[in-house]
Amino acid sequence: MLNLGTPKKVLLTALLSASTLALGCQQPVQSDQARGEVLYANCVSCHMAEGWGDQKIGAPAIAGLPEWYIEAQLLKFRSAQRGSHFDDIGGMKMRPMSLALLHERDVGIISAHVAKMPPLRKGATLQGDAKKGQGLFATCVACHGPTGLGNEALRAPPLAGQDDWYVVGQLQHFKAGIRGTNPADVSGATMRPMAMVLADEQAMRDVAAHIQTLSK
Ligand code: HEC
Ligand code: HEC
Repeated sequence: MLNLGTPKKVLLTALLSASTLALGCQQPVQSDQARGEVLYANCVSCHMAEGWGDQKIGAPAIAGLPEWYIEAQLLKFRSAQRGSHFDDIGGMKMRPMSLALLHERDVGIISAHVAKMPPLRKGATLQGDAKKGQGLFATCVACHGPTGLGNEALRAPPLAGQDDWYVVGQLQHFKAGIRGTNPADVSGATMRPMAMVLADEQAMRDVAAHIQTLSK
């Protein structure tokens, strides 16, 4: 009679340890940092091991972009707000990669990982007049900032340190409506009219030449 409590205790202990084990299974087996590295392996073929991009593929440098911007763009690619226009060849390469991030949480983990990668400043690839570009850049300052460092509140990414060929390519896409025309793409819609202000490709090259002079 005195021992009645003991089997109950044993049962309780067994139940408790079983639930602890079950909870244990819910814990991620990897740290976010390790998981970020695993996820980044899927990006290397285009954005390269260091995240500095590959012009031949049209893949931009992404190393060191702010986490909020990377996350926002990955979500846009996933939801077809970006990269789903018929003429968006670069977007066609990138969109499936965003969809390959099968878990919602991985979007945040990979964004934090890429944001921590050190960027590399590369030289100009296009002929542009930086002096003329400086004048044209006056229109851009309101959102991207005087030194092109971007503005999170306005959802405007940094431009300083970005390659000229990618800047010109995206400006052409905004102007032609290949980017920024999806009805759900609110921040893209704020950028589009700004690209329309640039008269032609030379003006875009000039502004990209000025962006080359801004230090990151
Ligand atoms: C098959 C090639 C390819 C792979 C693999 C790839 N990307 Fe991309 N990515 C691109 C291209 C091309 C673009 C440019 C899209 C455009 O022209 O609008 C791009 C654009 C981006 C952008 C937008 C950058 C900006 O400044 O707006 C982000 C962020 C990005 N990729 C992150 C990733 C991540 C993270 C991975 C891995 C999970 C990845 N990409 C894998 C080709 C690729
Ligand atoms: C009214 C605010 C605003 C102004 C002014 C503005 N932009 Fe933007 N820009 C944005 C926003 C917001 C985005 C991000 C769009 C998105 O989320 O896809 C953007 C994106 C861009 C991108 C794409 C960057 C990338 O990594 O893909 C380029 C290039 C760019 N802007 C260049 C310019 C230039 C050059 C000017 C001046 C002629 C300019 N912008 C003026 C708000 C602005």
